Formats: sequence, C-alpha cells, structure tokens
Amino acid sequence: MAFTNRVFSGIKPSGDLHLGNYLGAIRRFVPLQEQMACIYCVVDMHAITVWQDPADLRRWTHEIAAAYIAAGLDPERSIIFNQSQVAQHAELAWVFNCVARMGWMARMTQFKDKAGKNSENVSLGLFAYPSLMAADILLYKATHVPVGEDQKQHLELTRDIAAKFNNDFATSIAAGGHDAEFFPSTEPMIAGPATRVMSLRDGSKKMSKSEISDMATIYLMDDADEIAKKIRKAKTDPEPLPSEAKGLQGRPEASNLVGIYAALSDRDIDDVLREYGGQGFGGFKPALAELAVEVLAPQAAEMRRLVADPGQIDAVLRNGAERAREIAAKTMAEVRDIVGFVR
Ligand code: TRP
Repeated sequence: MAFTNRVFSGIKPSGDLHLGNYLGAIRRFVPLQEQMACIYCVVDMHAITVWQDPADLRRWTHEIAAAYIAAGLDPERSIIFNQSQVAQHAELAWVFNCVARMGWMARMTQFKDKAGKNSENVSLGLFAYPSLMAADILLYKATHVPVGEDQKQHLELTRDIAAKFNNDFATSIAAGGHDAEFFPSTEPMIAGPATRVMSLRDGSKKMSKSEISDMATIYLMDDADEIAKKIRKAKTDPEPLPSEAKGLQGRPEASNLVGIYAALSDRDIDDVLREYGGQGFGGFKPALAELAVEVLAPQAAEMRRLVADPGQIDAVLRNGAERAREIAAKTMAEVRDIVGFVR
C-alpha cells in the first residue's frame, strides 16, 4: 500500500511568535492545505523539555493557535490541535525511546547547542526530544514535513527510527498483515533561503524570541506603527541594492531585508532586485515597511481578537484533538499488536 500524502508540522509554545516563525513556517503551511491533508500542531509537550511557566505556556499555546487561524489555516479543513490533548504522542514516543539508540540522540546538534556544558543538568526530556518528534510525525504516518533547515537532522533521525522499527518488528508487521513499510519514510520540505529571517540589528544572527533588543524582532502581535518603526531603524549598510542576488553576498543585513520582502510578496530575490537594484535603503525601507504592514497588521489584529476570547480557540483545539485522536488511536492500536502488548 502506498501512503497517501499527509502533512504534519508543529511549533513550540515557548515564546512570542515573530516574523521568522511566520515566514519560515506558518505562511508556508497555508497553501499546502490545497494539496494534501494537513495536521498542524502546537507542540506543548516539546516546550516543557525546558522550564516553562504554566501561565506563559497556556498563553503561548493560544497565541500559536490564533496565528494559525489568522494566517489562513482553516480549522475545518486542516486539523489544528495541541499535542498534549492526544495521549498517543507520549505513548508512541516511549516505544521509540526503546527503538532509538543513545548514540543517535547524543549526536543531535540541537541537543548539544541547548545543553552546552550543562549536559548533566538538562532534563531527560530534552535528550529524548527527537524521539517525541518522530512520534508526532509517524503517529499520523505523515509523508511531508515542512520545517526550517535547523530541523533537518531531526527529520533524518525520524527516518532512522521508522526504518529500525520496520526492520526490528518485520516478522510481527508481516504477521499482522501490514505492508513491510509500516511507517513511511518522511520527506522533509526545507524552507528556502528567503524564509530564513535574521535579526534586524545583526544580519548574522537568527531573528529570535530571546533577543535583548526588542528592535531586532518583529513580533506577530506588533501593530502597524511598531512594524514600520522596526523596519525604518533596521541596520543596513551604505551601499545601494545590487541588481542580482549574488551581489548580496557578504551583505547580511541587505540580504535579510530583501529576503523578507521576497517572502512577504511571494517573489524571488532576483525579481525583487530587478525592481529595486540601484536604489538605496532610503527608498527600499519604506516600500518594505508598507508591504510588511499590509500583510502583517491585519493578521495581528485578528490574533489579538482571538486571544481575547480563548474559549473560541479552546473549542478549535478540542475539535482538532478529537479528529487527531481518531487517526492516532488506530496507529497506536496497530503498534501495540506489533510490539506484543496485550490489549
Ligand atoms: N522541533 C520542531 C522545532 O523546534 C518542532 C516540532 C516538534 C516539529 N514536533 C514536530 C516540527 C513535528 C515538525 C514536525 O521547530
């Protein structure tokens, strides 16, 4: 049996959403709804691998759900839910903890970066994080996973876990009448360079929620004035814009602003530079500010409206969780039989 195409992706509720989350993830999720069945998750169980204040966790969960809806994800068509409401994620992750090897996890660069020199003192959950991520994806036998470049290694590990499970349990999988490829080999859909958003104060650092300077990050709840001000004050260099993409090499700030323009207008970088090449930032920044305000400000207003009424968001998440659970329960029942758990 060939797998039907299914998209799964998730965002961690561990900080205020910003333009990087929007261009690298949320905006790319929207058109996929036209092509495949999509499941978009708020991965709250991943968030608690490092300490989260419970009130913040709740607020950020609502914020991500609101951003999904405000950006155009349709909760009728797509499944939108938060991970912890579907217990099968934790259940499958445990089985995967017993399939994956310590050495695989220890090689993960995200773990090494986050643990730093403190690896004896981080949570066990942080170490096992990729195993839970594999469970998120494989519970739904998802074939396509849109993520940023930084998640590539986790997706390779997801494929390794699927292959080892299929192999370790081959006899049992066959006895159950399943296809030998019980779990699919998931395709990563890695975002292009125009969707890698850097800090507005330092073009060599990723835009992030943990920036010291608020001027470095455009938050998805920023209003029109804040968006325009941050773009106006963004760091640049004194040169005019080049007329081709290769002229942006070695100019991280210019490259970032042109990339943001391209992503917000669904154009490619060369196309944007055909229009603005030769102009200085005095002309380009107001055009970028206008575009950013036009795209982002109405969504920010809708997000603010939605988070003011969390009851409505909770209903969406509960409904999504119910539909997710139906798929997840079926996979998990099969996994229980394959593994040899009596039920
Ligand atoms: N690890 C992802 C990130 O930090 C979030 C995530 C968790 C995810 N589970 C997932 C992404 C499943 C895609 C699919 O961005």
